[in-house]
Amino acid sequence: MRSSPPSSSQPLGDDASTERVPSSGKSEARRAKSRRKLRRRAGATAFLMFGLIAAGLLAGLLTPKPQVATADANAAQLVEAGKQLYETSCVTCHGQNLEGVPDRGPTLLGVGDASVYFQVSTGRMPAARGEAQAARKTEKFTQVQIDQLGAYIQAMGGGPRVMYERDDNGEIKRNPETGLPVLAQESLQGDNLGRGGELFRLNCASCHNFTGRGGALSSGKYAPTLSGVNEQQLYTAMLTGPQNMPKFSNRQLSAEEKKDIIGFVRYVDSANPSGGLALGGFGPVSEGIVMWFVGVTAIIAGAMWIGSRN
Ligand code: HEC
Ligand code: HEC
Repeated sequence: MRSSPPSSSQPLGDDASTERVPSSGKSEARRAKSRRKLRRRAGATAFLMFGLIAAGLLAGLLTPKPQVATADANAAQLVEAGKQLYETSCVTCHGQNLEGVPDRGPTLLGVGDASVYFQVSTGRMPAARGEAQAARKTEKFTQVQIDQLGAYIQAMGGGPRVMYERDDNGEIKRNPETGLPVLAQESLQGDNLGRGGELFRLNCASCHNFTGRGGALSSGKYAPTLSGVNEQQLYTAMLTGPQNMPKFSNRQLSAEEKKDIIGFVRYVDSANPSGGLALGGFGPVSEGIVMWFVGVTAIIAGAMWIGSRN
């Protein structure tokens, strides 16, 4: 450290003295010239080195960080956080390795994040002990926690996936703040209501009623109302078939057919806001009959009243 300043200042002082006396002979001048040349060359080398280092630093700064690595790190974090949630809230009924616990809960291997989303976002899970049928309740976990639980259970056993929002290039959209993928909701509503209604009557109405009001099943079980159920829940319910409901894989009902059913259910739900008389939910026919009876009765009553005054 301390030795370098004198050694570098030494030739400089030497040089200055030679320049101050230019007339001290030819050899002296030649030596000074070669020393200057040397210095220029050294200066050029230093400049080149500096340039290279600067270029290296700049390249380091400008090269984009490897996206894949950060995405993987995010995914790993998600799984780890999910594991922790699982171990505090689910492990007693579903087992240390998702293998299930006799008389408490089924295995979660292969159920996929679709089933986790459905069960946890509808508040069915975590279940209360000894329920015959886990009922819809207010959810206990935030969307981020549901993502974490889903990531863990998906990583452990695979299975049917939730649907994400996608951009025009088919890439999954991410929330700019959390970096988490955005779940699809409104975009799951197909616009072929006719086909949706037809498929609903064929596949769902036997249990959920023609307008999705729900109904009782055998042995104390019931098919719940579909009113207020969001699009992703409708989609994942069909895909995973909770409890006594059959599974509708994409081979039985394609994603497009599922979307039309969702469009139909959401349409009926928004067109029939709760309140008023449901009249059995059989639609225009039953309602028309009621109107006809009410109207005819009123006309007859009116005629009799007029007749009685004469
Ligand atoms: C008190 C016991 C209990 C707890 C706690 C519990 N579950 Fe369950 N879980 C069950 C039972 C019982 C079922 C079967 C429910 C049914 O058929 O209605 C089930 C079903 C499920 C299913 C559906 C499996 C399938 O085949 O599609 C998922 C997913 C699930 N649980 C996730 C969770 C998660 C995640 C947690 C923790 C946040 C949790 N459960 C906590 C008892 C429990
Ligand atoms: C065999 C009777 C049956 C059929 C057919 C059936 N479901 Fe279900 N569905 C059920 C039962 C039972 C449940 C309750 C499951 C539970 O509580 O774990 C249910 C639950 C649901 C839920 C969850 C509602 C909530 O409260 O969160 C949705 C959504 C749903 N079904 C949609 C459908 C659609 C759409 C179809 C037709 C493609 C259909 N179901 C066909 C019996 C049925």
